[in-house]
Amino acid sequence: MSGYKQHLFICTNSPDREGKCGSKGSEELRLALKQRCGKEFGKDVRVNASGCLGHCERGIAAVLYPQGEWFLDLAKEDQEVLFRAVQEKIK
Ligand code: FES
Repeated sequence: MSGYKQHLFICTNSPDREGKCGSKGSEELRLALKQRCGKEFGKDVRVNASGCLGHCERGIAAVLYPQGEWFLDLAKEDQEVLFRAVQEKIK
């Protein structure tokens, strides 16, 4: 039992390979979100880096558990989209 209410995985695969999530700024997105969620939700929310999630052509890709909700076509500026999704589910 993890104890997390929400667990977000953001693909940070292959920052050196064009077209992969990592080359589109996903680590920057993850770090910003991790910091913000940490401040807002403490240990209730975990934001992890993941390897390839199998949707490279629609990356940046992320998935939120326990719902298994996918987020595709994200840009590194899309912190708000993911933050609001987490916030909505944690209420
Ligand atoms: S590199 Fe991100 S889904 Fe494949």
